[in-house]
Amino acid sequence: MPVKIATSILGLDYGRMNIHLAELASFSDEFHVDVMDGNFVDNLTIGPPVVAAIKTPVPLDCHLMITNPEKFIEAFAKAGAASITIHAEASSDLARDIALIHRQGARACVALNPATPISAIESVLPSLDRVLIMSVVPGWGGQAFMPQVLEKVQDIRKRYPHLDIQIDGGITDQTAAMAVQAGATTLVAGNFIIKAANPAAAAQALRQAATL
Ligand code: DX5
Ligand code: ZN
Repeated sequence: MPVKIATSILGLDYGRMNIHLAELASFSDEFHVDVMDGNFVDNLTIGPPVVAAIKTPVPLDCHLMITNPEKFIEAFAKAGAASITIHAEASSDLARDIALIHRQGARACVALNPATPISAIESVLPSLDRVLIMSVVPGWGGQAFMPQVLEKVQDIRKRYPHLDIQIDGGITDQTAAMAVQAGATTLVAGNFIIKAANPAAAAQALRQAATL
């Protein structure tokens, strides 16, 4: 299955969001929207009204780094999220929250922080459309990739040959190759693409690295 690139919009100028997204659309399979609440992580970003203001044909992938995600799943789905990710560490009832996401017609994904073991999502893995393995401690873009999380990617890939495994944090052409070899199928990339002199070439370099 060809690897997908989810371009993270975290580092963009939000005041010119739709202009930026139009420039990134042709080489992005998804736009990855980082939602932070200043509680689950030490940073604060955007909520459903801003997601609703995004105009793009590219599917929106909302990564909810928020506590009590059940309160906002419906709002993000209505704002246009095609897939919704909640954190295993932030949900008080993963099965309930996954069902909520599915009821809204979105793809359901659960994320694991670098320190969280797979056992935290073992019981819900079969009901997921995708799992997200964080390769940095969430909160900011531009951090260094943590290679030790690749063990979790390999382990899940062995047991779920067809599951979409997303990896997020510190993805470059170097780390993308390692992640794909371990079994990742969707690469979230922020700084590597949006800070590049030529974002299209950077995305192409990721796709190239993924095929090596
Ligand atoms: C980190 C976010 C990531 C971030 C990735 O908390 O979840 O999605 O935007 O940015 P880079 O690719 O720059 O590490
Ligand atoms: Zn993210």
